[in-house]
Amino acid sequence: ADTLGSAATAKGRYFGTAVAAGHLGESAYATTLNREFTSATPENEMKWDATEPNRNTFTFGAADQVVNHALGQGMTVRGHTLVWHSQLPSWVGGLGTADLRTAMNNHITRVMQHYKGKIHSWDVVNEAFQDGGSGARRSSPFQDKLGNGFIEEAFRTARAADPAAKLCYNDYNTDGVNAKSNAVYAMVKDFKSRGVPIDCVGFQSHFNSASPVPSDYQANLQRFADLGVDVQITELDIEGSGTSQANSYANVVRACLAVSRCTGITVWGVTDKYSWRSSGTPLLFDSNYNKKPAYDAVLSAL
Ligand code: XIL
Repeated sequence: ADTLGSAATAKGRYFGTAVAAGHLGESAYATTLNREFTSATPENEMKWDATEPNRNTFTFGAADQVVNHALGQGMTVRGHTLVWHSQLPSWVGGLGTADLRTAMNNHITRVMQHYKGKIHSWDVVNEAFQDGGSGARRSSPFQDKLGNGFIEEAFRTARAADPAAKLCYNDYNTDGVNAKSNAVYAMVKDFKSRGVPIDCVGFQSHFNSASPVPSDYQANLQRFADLGVDVQITELDIEGSGTSQANSYANVVRACLAVSRCTGITVWGVTDKYSWRSSGTPLLFDSNYNKKPAYDAVLSAL
């Protein structure tokens, strides 16, 4: 295989990228996207501030652009994300408890209904746990007003809205075995034991020198898979350059391939030119859309 997508397909996986609607008109961006990737995640366009900036006013234009482009190219789409403390319009935080519950369920339902049948996997809830050793939930309007049950409620609402979509919990700093991933693990185990609908866990996998690819990455993916969920690498980027960056990328690919329920890998952007890490070079194509050593390492590891 001579592209990331075709190599991944040969292994029964997808290889995806975050996509920004605003770059689709740049020909090198679109050419690289269309040639290399078999899955797309709207980078910002499906977040709450983009899709429901004011209560009950839904705006899907930018997300539709990404979804239509991806489906037109035969890609699958990851929906990102329905319930998250960030990129959340301020009106949500101003609601009282009963209103917030209604608004959360309405948001999930309306956004999922709009994309019904078009989304492979949804990040239903994103980043609900704190960093560090506590294993506690992160403060957010949802957590603070609705309590621990908000995640379960969001997943139940999501299942009803689009029964065909896989429903994921997604987070960062959960890539290795640690207190935070242990807390997510306990939640998933509890959900599976009580029949709360969850199909997949997303591991963002934003790595840098302070937070490198953990040595127990594969083992951590496997323990989640063993609970009976798929696992996905959802926002991969690795700071650095040259051989060391290439080796880290290859390690991530090998870890996923070694876990049969690791169904796909998404990198968080097509090109270093538009990485959210504006000063960094964490992706597979440089700013001129040239393949980096990391690209070659991923292709050979696939
Ligand atoms: C980032 C986008 O890449 C940026 O463009 C935006 O300014 C902030 O959000 N975790 C997530 C992603 O789940 O949605 C974030 O994306 C990166 C961290």
